Amino acid sequence: MASPSSTSSLKTAYPWIKLPLITSAPMRLISNAALATTVSLAHGIGFIGAGSDISSLSEELSKARDLLSTSPTLQTKYNDTLPIGIGFLLWGAPLTETLTILSKPENTPAAVWLFAPQTSSQLKEWSQGIRTVTSQKTKIWIQVTSVHEALEATKTASPDVLVIQGTDAGGHGAAQGAGITSLVPETIDAVTSLCNNNPSIPLPAFIATGGISDGRAIASALALGAQGTCLGTRFLAAHESAIAPGYRNAVIAISDGGRTTIRSSVYDTLRGTTSWPSGYGGRGVLNASFRDHQAGMADEDNKRLYEEAVASGGDEGWEGERARLTTYAGTGVGLVKRVESARDITVGLRGEAKGVLRRLADLASTM
Ligand SMILES: Cc1cc2nc3c(=O)[nH]c(=O)nc-3n(C[C@H](O)[C@H](O)[C@H](O)COP(=O)(O)O)c2cc1C
Repeated sequence: MASPSSTSSLKTAYPWIKLPLITSAPMRLISNAALATTVSLAHGIGFIGAGSDISSLSEELSKARDLLSTSPTLQTKYNDTLPIGIGFLLWGAPLTETLTILSKPENTPAAVWLFAPQTSSQLKEWSQGIRTVTSQKTKIWIQVTSVHEALEATKTASPDVLVIQGTDAGGHGAAQGAGITSLVPETIDAVTSLCNNNPSIPLPAFIATGGISDGRAIASALALGAQGTCLGTRFLAAHESAIAPGYRNAVIAISDGGRTTIRSSVYDTLRGTTSWPSGYGGRGVLNASFRDHQAGMADEDNKRLYEEAVASGGDEGWEGERARLTTYAGTGVGLVKRVESARDITVGLRGEAKGVLRRLADLASTM
C-alpha cells in the first residue's frame, strides 16, 4: 500500500487544495484557461490541455494569470508558480519550444502532465527539461494506462504524481486496458514495491482517472488507494469548457456509457489525428461514423461524410442516429446530467465524496 504521506505531500506541493483532491483533465482544445483556473480557484487543480500543439499556450497562460489575479489569496498561497497545470501529448508537442515558454517565470505552472510518448526516452527528456527550466518548481505528473507503463515511467522519469487511467476514460487511452478497480491497487502495489526496493526512486502520489463522474466514484478511488482523482467527461458539461453546444448537449443526453461509447481509432482516422503511437484509441459516443466503419465502409467514404457533417455546422451532426461528429466521452457520461459552473462541479463533488466517506465510516463502526 502506498504511504499515507503521499496525501500530505500533495498538500505541501499544492497548498491551496482541499481534500479529497479533484482535478480536471487536460482535454486538448476544450480545457482552456477559463476551465483550469475555475477548478483551481475552487481548491482543486485545473489543467490546460495544450496537447500536441502549443501555438496558443502563451496566450492561454496570459489569460490564466488575469483570471487568477482576481484571487489574491490563492496567489499568495503559492507565490512561485501559477496554481494550475498544463497537459502535453508527447508524440506531437515540441520540447524545445515548450521549455522556452515554461522557462519564463510568469509562466511556471505548478504541474505538468505528460501523456502518450513515442518512446520512453521522451519521458526522461521532458521531465528533466521541465525540472531544469523551472528550478524544480513544476511537479511532473505522468498519465499511465497499465501496471507495466507505470513501472517504466517511474524508473525512467521519477514522476511526482502518477495518474492511473482506467479504460473507462473518455478520449484517448490504451486500446486494451483495465478499469480502475483492478488497475489502481495493482499499480500502487507494484510501484510502491519498486520504490521500496530502490530508495533512489521517490514514491509518487497516485491519482485515479477514467469513468469517475460523481462523489461515489471519488470515494471509491480513495478506497482503492489513490490520493486524488481526475475527471474529464464530467467537466465537458462545465460552462467554462470550450465545447460546441451540440457536443455538450450530447454529453447531457447520453446514458448507459458502457453500451453507448466505444474506444476505437476510427475517430482519429476521420479527424486526421493519426500520429498517435500504436496501442491507443479514443473513447467516444458510438455514432453513425463508427457503425458505417464496422459495416465495412471505406475510410475515404466515411471521411467524406464526416467532413460534410463538419461543414454543415448544425447540431444534428452531434446527436441521434445520424450523428457523425466525434463526441469523445467516457463510460461515466450517463452520470453527467446538467451543465454547471466548474466551481459548482468541483465543490459539489468534494461534498458528495465526503458524504459517502462519512456514511462508510458510520457503516464500519457498526461492523
Ligand atoms: C474530450 C477529451 C479530451 C481529452 N484530451 C486529452 C489530452 O489532450 N491529453 C490527455 O492527456 N488526456 C486527454 N483526455 C483524457 C483525460 O486525461 C482523462 O484520462 C479522462 O478524461 C478521464 O476519464 P473520464 O473522461 O471518464 O473522466 C481527454 C479526455 C476527453 C474526454
